[in-house]
Amino acid sequence: MNTNENHVEDTHFAMPRIGDKAPEFKAVTTQGDINFPSDYKGEWVILFSHPADFTPVCTSEFMTFAHLEEKFAQANCKLVGLSVDGLYSHIAWLRTIKDKIKFNGMDNVEVKFPLIEDITMNVAKKYGMIQPGEHKTQAVRAVFFIDPESTVRAIIYYPLSLGRNFDEIYRALIAMQTSDKFNVATPADWNPGDDVIISPAGSCGVAEERMSSSDELECEDWFFCTKKLDRDLVLNEILKK
Ligand code: BEZ
Repeated sequence: MNTNENHVEDTHFAMPRIGDKAPEFKAVTTQGDINFPSDYKGEWVILFSHPADFTPVCTSEFMTFAHLEEKFAQANCKLVGLSVDGLYSHIAWLRTIKDKIKFNGMDNVEVKFPLIEDITMNVAKKYGMIQPGEHKTQAVRAVFFIDPESTVRAIIYYPLSLGRNFDEIYRALIAMQTSDKFNVATPADWNPGDDVIISPAGSCGVAEERMSSSDELECEDWFFCTKKLDRDLVLNEILKK
């Protein structure tokens, strides 16, 4: 076995997992230098990668993220982008987007969140954004949700050809914040205002209680109980006024 070869592959595949602390790095960005994740302590951050500047799917995604930046900020969440291009390419691309590109009714879009230059692939490799089966030198479309304690809470990967679904990215953020705030879980396709799931019964006694009538809970069976959670209550707790 050639261990040296394996080591090279390992550096490509290293990736944080859900529940890990976000790997640390210092980087140059279109908004100045950042120290990650310490600059974002106390806030949620979505760290996302894209394959390359001056490409159409990436352009559509950047315009959409920029359009939604304020909406994410209201949910205490900052955006940070990354590709393995250099700073001047990033700057030129963002200027072109603002000056020339129209997409989905968006025009004159200014990207104000930081875009990391990562020519060395140092950050992309730390976060498992280079997936050689898809592309050896471009990052896939990764989305890391990192919470105010710098813990990785969710990860979504998309291949190069597939633009991300921003409704889902926002929904996932709000759902995780709702779980934290109200100590509940959220079922399939949950959105604020929908019923939430309460934690499973941890004893036979609690399982029995769950099955007896309750004003608050709706139980399909002892392990599947939901309750109402008012949409305005959720949004008032989560969104900044
Ligand atoms: C794009 O963003 O359009 C793109 C980038 C890399 C491969 C395929 C599409």
